[in-house]
Amino acid sequence: MRRVMWLATAAAAAALCCLVAAAGAARQCKFPAVFNFGDSNSDTGGFWAAFPAQQPPFGMTYFGLPAGRASDGRLVVDFLGKHVTLLPLLAAPLDCSYLTKWCPYLQSVGSGYRHGANFATLASTALQPNTSLFVTGISPFFLAVQLNQMKELRNKVLTSNGNNGQLPAPDVLHNALYTIDIGQNDLTSNLGSQSIETVKQSLPSVVSKISSTVQELYNIGARNIMVFNMAPIGCYPAFLTKLPHTSNDMDGYGCMKTYNSAVTYYNEQLNASLAEVRTKLQDASVVYVDKHAVTLELFRHPKAHGLKYGTKACCGHGDGAYNFNPDLYCGSSKVLNGQTAIARACADPQNYVSWDGIHATEAANKIIASSLMSGSYSYPPFDLSKLCHLQPIA
Ligand SMILES: *[C@@H]1O[C@H](CO)[C@@H](O)[C@H](O)[C@H]1NC(C)=O
Ligand SMILES: *[C@@H]1O[C@H](CO)[C@@H](O)[C@H](O)[C@H]1NC(C)=O
Repeated sequence: MRRVMWLATAAAAAALCCLVAAAGAARQCKFPAVFNFGDSNSDTGGFWAAFPAQQPPFGMTYFGLPAGRASDGRLVVDFLGKHVTLLPLLAAPLDCSYLTKWCPYLQSVGSGYRHGANFATLASTALQPNTSLFVTGISPFFLAVQLNQMKELRNKVLTSNGNNGQLPAPDVLHNALYTIDIGQNDLTSNLGSQSIETVKQSLPSVVSKISSTVQELYNIGARNIMVFNMAPIGCYPAFLTKLPHTSNDMDGYGCMKTYNSAVTYYNEQLNASLAEVRTKLQDASVVYVDKHAVTLELFRHPKAHGLKYGTKACCGHGDGAYNFNPDLYCGSSKVLNGQTAIARACADPQNYVSWDGIHATEAANKIIASSLMSGSYSYPPFDLSKLCHLQPIA
């Protein structure tokens, strides 16, 4: 499972902001539901519902115990979902309590889907994997499976008349926000066995899978769709530790140029592909969310944002600059040189961008969510906070 975890990179979560309502209709600031598709950056418990169970110190900062998120606390989707949905105000994070009913689709006990569902699972890819969870740690719940789950849920919504309050009314499907944050594992999971140049060749098919999924969501009634781009994996402590690179490949911020430029290449293609989709789906809002810009800024200038460490993980093992040991992932233990070593959390996760070498801390997620809500990282541009009179994230 250790391998599962570190492969499970993933991009930030989902539920964001409002979209420019299409065709001159009124701008929509609140959504009755959020349906999210993605990987560990937006997984709020799906993976660990299917493959229990997550270990401490995950969840330590906010939940006080493992809460199914690959972080010490809340994800971007938790912050943004709270601000852009019509979830009950008491329901602070999207935590699948009986109040929020915003649950991982795979969670079978105590779940309800009146306010949407989260299909994201840790270690998911956009493309169908050629390998198994038990071989390379890739989730079986790749994007097409998540889409099928959405279609199945939709069929239930259309035929089961609310199912005793567990499901939304059919019109909610049309007015909901759909968010997609996936693709990073398609890039990173092959980097052990293939060169970055080879991996790059597969990225256009990843982009095209995401765009065709947008089209399919549209076909089943979605009209507000946000797609997140990929964060700069060349700044992640895990990849700085694991992936081959030369000192010439380091940029002035301690990140790897080659891997980051592959990400940029992917992001440009995604942006262009979504522009094309947009011309076809004129009565829908298809928004490209530049999570990359915000995350890169945090890695480059952590101190400017109230943090201390960029490319050093909070939870890990080793005295190295990155505090990441691929054999000893956050929360695990192992006998090394005759002694039991444990990958523990730092005492001050609020000072770190990186929680476990791959995933962001709650502190970073909060900053990312705030920035994304400003709307200036969305294309088409959209100033969510002004239009929706949003309160700052507390
Ligand atoms: C899996 O293998 C098929 C056939 O070789 C290939 O077309 C596809 O791109 C591969 N998928 C991934 C995710 O590597
Ligand atoms: C995305 O593409 C649009 C044009 O379709 C462009 O104006 C915008 O700057 C691009 N965004 C990024 C982050 O590259």
